[in-house]
Amino acid sequence: METAKLILRGKEYDLPVLEGTEHEVGIDVTALRAKSGAITFDPGYGNTGSCTSTVTFIDGEAGILRYRGYPIEQLAEHSSFVEVCYLLLYGDLPTENQLANFKGELAHHSLIHEDMKKMFEGYPPTAHPMGILGAMVNSLAAFYGDVPYNQDVQLNMIRLLAKMKTIAAFAFKRSKGQPYVYPKNELSFTGDLINMMFSLPTEHYHISPIIEDALDKIFILHADHEQNCSTSTVRMVGSSHANLFATISAGIAALWGPLHGGANQEVITMLEHIKADDCNYRKYIELAKDKNSDFKLMGFGHRVYRNFDPRAKILKEAADRVLNTIGIQDPLLEIAKNLERVALEDPYFVERKLYPNVDFYSGIIYKAMGIPTNMFTVMFALGRLPGWIAQWKEMTADPTLRIYRPRQIYTGEVLRDYTPISERN
Ligand code: SDX
Repeated sequence: METAKLILRGKEYDLPVLEGTEHEVGIDVTALRAKSGAITFDPGYGNTGSCTSTVTFIDGEAGILRYRGYPIEQLAEHSSFVEVCYLLLYGDLPTENQLANFKGELAHHSLIHEDMKKMFEGYPPTAHPMGILGAMVNSLAAFYGDVPYNQDVQLNMIRLLAKMKTIAAFAFKRSKGQPYVYPKNELSFTGDLINMMFSLPTEHYHISPIIEDALDKIFILHADHEQNCSTSTVRMVGSSHANLFATISAGIAALWGPLHGGANQEVITMLEHIKADDCNYRKYIELAKDKNSDFKLMGFGHRVYRNFDPRAKILKEAADRVLNTIGIQDPLLEIAKNLERVALEDPYFVERKLYPNVDFYSGIIYKAMGIPTNMFTVMFALGRLPGWIAQWKEMTADPTLRIYRPRQIYTGEVLRDYTPISERN
């Protein structure tokens, strides 16, 4: 066993060294506090591995992203979102028979309990769909039982994948004041979502194959991303043995943040603001660099990718293709391309290795599909759901699982005695 030597206050400690299948190296500090009384300190966990995992591999320097060893570029080109869900959940690409059974299970469980519709009615039409989604997913435990985390795992994974799509579509219909459209088992997973969102009971709705294919690819690109903020939240909550529905609801809450999945909505807001300001994108590049301004170039930067986000490259091409195919000239796309071009030549962004991330172009495609900005992060959540579930399944199947409980360095008041209020000044 390779070890790393730590010298602390004159004492030496040998710490085991781990190496992953892609040769990532980690120093195992699980016994450090017991041996030395010291802990490691890493706010934001930027240099801390919380687990070993077999689900997703990212090489941020090389711009590599693979699900279960398969490059994202190949999956986006050749696979389908449902097939990628199977791959993430079970570790291998399915046979034809396995895929057919999986699709049948997802179709069979796509309805939600009729009583859940009453809950949608309780929200004002202006309610943000992410708030509704998180609450409704948590409420699935009310209808399907607060079952122990390790009971009915296969059934509840299927229920969640099948029903969250319906909940998302119903939340959208609620915000539009339109009647709910129920799932249709003969449609594809993504085609069924599009139909539930955009069709009306009063007329035939044509699902554009271009839109269906583009959205399916977007879901594939969002399906997992190792230990990001929302997935780490899922692992944190799941480590307490909370039921799967509550655990995923916590992941939805974390994804909503504008620094995380909420960025795709903020990107469009930013681009529309720039468009309204005479398309003066150079002004906003300078604002993003100005430390006295709290303006950030939304959709830019990433904790892990230090060259480019491979998903952004694919989405940029998809945005061009979708807009050209459906014949939309969106000035926001031109503003985005100009922002990217100028930023990638600017030392501020180059020195900080800030490049477009997955959220930079996805919103432009959603907008071209007629999806409103407040639904963008819901689409991200639908794409990320199989990754959350796969990571949760991997963690809870580990017999050595212990509840996640980080330590801290206390910097508050030292011991002091209580004083009666009459003696306080
Ligand atoms: C996602 O982790 C994942 O994998 C997430 C995700 C996934 O698939 O799950 O990939 C999805 O969340 C993508 C990121 C979406 N968020 C945004 O686009 C919001 C804008 N981006 C930033 O807020 C930021 O880049 C983060 C949050 C993405 C990353 O933050 P870090 O790693 O903590 O970087 P940082 O804030 O420490 O920034 C380092 C420097 C700072 O400047 P200095 O203090 O060194 O002078 O870069 C600057 C920052 O000010 N900087 C930016 C910037 N992002 C970082 N400056 C202007 N615009 C930006 N967008």
